[in-house]
Amino acid sequence: MPDPATDAISNLLHEERRFAPPADLAAHANVQAEAYDRAAADRLGFWAEQADRLDWGRRWDQVLDWTNPPFAKWFVGGTINAAYNCVDRHVAAGRGDKVAFHWVGEPADDTRTITYAELKDDVCRATNALIDLGVRKGDRVAIYMPMIPEVAVAMLACARLGAPHTVVFGGFSSEALASRLEDCGATFVITADGGYRRGSASALKPAVDEACVKTGDLVRHVLVVRRTGQDVAWHDGRDVWWHDAVGSASTEHTPEMHDSEHPLYVMYTSGTTGKPKGILHTTGGYLVGTSFTHWAVFDLKPDTDVYWCTADVGWVTGHSYMVYGPLANGVTQVMYEGTPDSPHKGRWWEIIQDYGVTIFYTAPTAIRTFMKWGRDLPDGFDMSSLRLLGSVGEPINPEAYMWYREVIGGNNCPIVDTWWQTETGQIMISPLPGVTHGKPGSAMKGLPGVVAQVVNDEGVPVGNGSGGYLVLREPWPAMLRTLWGDDERFKETYWSRWAGMYFAGDGAKLDEDGDIWLLGRVDDVMNVSGHRLSTTEIESALVSHPKVAEAAVVGANDEMTGQAPCAFVILRESAGDGGADIVADLRAHVAKEIGAIAKPRQIMIVPELPKTRSGKIMRRLLKDIAEHREVGDVTTLADSTVMDLIKAKEGTSSGEE
Ligand code: WT7
Repeated sequence: MPDPATDAISNLLHEERRFAPPADLAAHANVQAEAYDRAAADRLGFWAEQADRLDWGRRWDQVLDWTNPPFAKWFVGGTINAAYNCVDRHVAAGRGDKVAFHWVGEPADDTRTITYAELKDDVCRATNALIDLGVRKGDRVAIYMPMIPEVAVAMLACARLGAPHTVVFGGFSSEALASRLEDCGATFVITADGGYRRGSASALKPAVDEACVKTGDLVRHVLVVRRTGQDVAWHDGRDVWWHDAVGSASTEHTPEMHDSEHPLYVMYTSGTTGKPKGILHTTGGYLVGTSFTHWAVFDLKPDTDVYWCTADVGWVTGHSYMVYGPLANGVTQVMYEGTPDSPHKGRWWEIIQDYGVTIFYTAPTAIRTFMKWGRDLPDGFDMSSLRLLGSVGEPINPEAYMWYREVIGGNNCPIVDTWWQTETGQIMISPLPGVTHGKPGSAMKGLPGVVAQVVNDEGVPVGNGSGGYLVLREPWPAMLRTLWGDDERFKETYWSRWAGMYFAGDGAKLDEDGDIWLLGRVDDVMNVSGHRLSTTEIESALVSHPKVAEAAVVGANDEMTGQAPCAFVILRESAGDGGADIVADLRAHVAKEIGAIAKPRQIMIVPELPKTRSGKIMRRLLKDIAEHREVGDVTTLADSTVMDLIKAKEGTSSGEE
């Protein structure tokens, strides 16, 4: 029987092959097809060549030290300063007047233009202010900020000083912030009074105050940017206004060249257990990996391009492809503070029109939202400046891909579907515009210098047309070096499944051409709007509520967000039926414990959970219910009547929005 879904995809594929990228792309592409062979023949030589695009204090002695796997050292013996490479060297080369950021605030007409020369002054001032506050090389600095230029300045000032930053997404709760401060021992926090989102000012400082209380005496100073002017509680001696400390500091600062392996930042991400993992990135290799891939994958022409990545700086995409990669390449970019629907639903397209954006990088979940809003909105703006589109965060469904290319790209822009992770630091799998073609739904193949494979349960590479697990076979420059303070968990999580292979946690298949199609996570991690959430983390949040005895969470398919958390909760005897507001209470509790993004789409209060005889919750069955499917095989359940009890509850206490 013909499968309509497969038919639709093959029709789209057929159409994709007919899509001819603009002819001049191939002729002037930054990277040519021979790069694949060259990198395959001499991978380390290839990466050394990319490293030479940066300015080093001292050149490295050895490209890679892999004598103690999985602990890699890249560009051993080299010294480098990330902030110098992102800012000073462009000014030194006479490009100080070039715009680094066109910053667009959410309130209308609230804009700022910052040149590389101004950015350099700001970064030096902030560095001097941090030094005055007592920040020293090696100290960890947490950053909890909205999307304002100061966030990039703060990150670069930390990098300049050699004080690893840990940026915590502004949507995370004070609990989440406190646990991250504690895990990496951050003694300084940079924040703002608040920011603008969805048409109003939201607060950030109160969460920092709470996190400081929760972490005892850990935090010595909080540096606060005044963004909205809202009232904030003030702790004399601890809190310092950014405009006082940074505003009065000198614009002179000579950067120290740090060891190539000096820690640059820690970014927390959800794992399969409740505790987030602190992904550690170091300086030299990370900058090489991000700047090269940004230049190659987006076929960047720094003199003429206007690049816009819509990611929030609180996620890795905002680190690699809004701060470090693009700034190291000296391009002009757009940074936008708010949400796409404020003050109107065409805001993004208006920004593309107003600033002549040429390269646009966003997530499939956003594209699906715009599809729902209708093409009239983007059609109302002139987006002819666009020449290249990127997608990241989750597999892009072919329908969204075609809409993106046609409606946003005017059928004139190739799309790069870029697969990577917080851990990989840099894009790993993607087409190269003008060099390789794309297919709607496939991220295609590993970039030059990257060895990505699909293997079976035994770790043996599968043939074309077969599925398995995505692995990376060779170290790469921007790879994570370890988990902060937990080498064992680093080995166990990524390197223990098959000897010598990095296991990404994603399922994948190879098509008949050998191109890679990502199939989503194979572990207890779900992908909500391109953000990673762990089922266990949400379960822990739920059971920390006094009325909850037990909870199970699954990631159910969701048309808009890719996946959405759905929870099944058993209440304590003492809680009775929990009261009329129990579902709303529990959703609010999860938001308080983790952040609004983790709020379950649906919560079902159930009498029992499906468990095997050994007591393991069979999430597969719960997923069937959450996705409104026939429930699968129940024969291994300890009590097979449990599913009937749960099904009887379906629709009665869902709280679905
Ligand atoms: C996970 C990593 C990379 C920055 C944003 C997310 C999924 C990411 C793609 C893609 C299919 C993708 C994977 C991966 N993912 N990009 N182009 N196609 N899946 O970073 O939070 O570290 O999540 O996102 O499942 O493992 P992250």
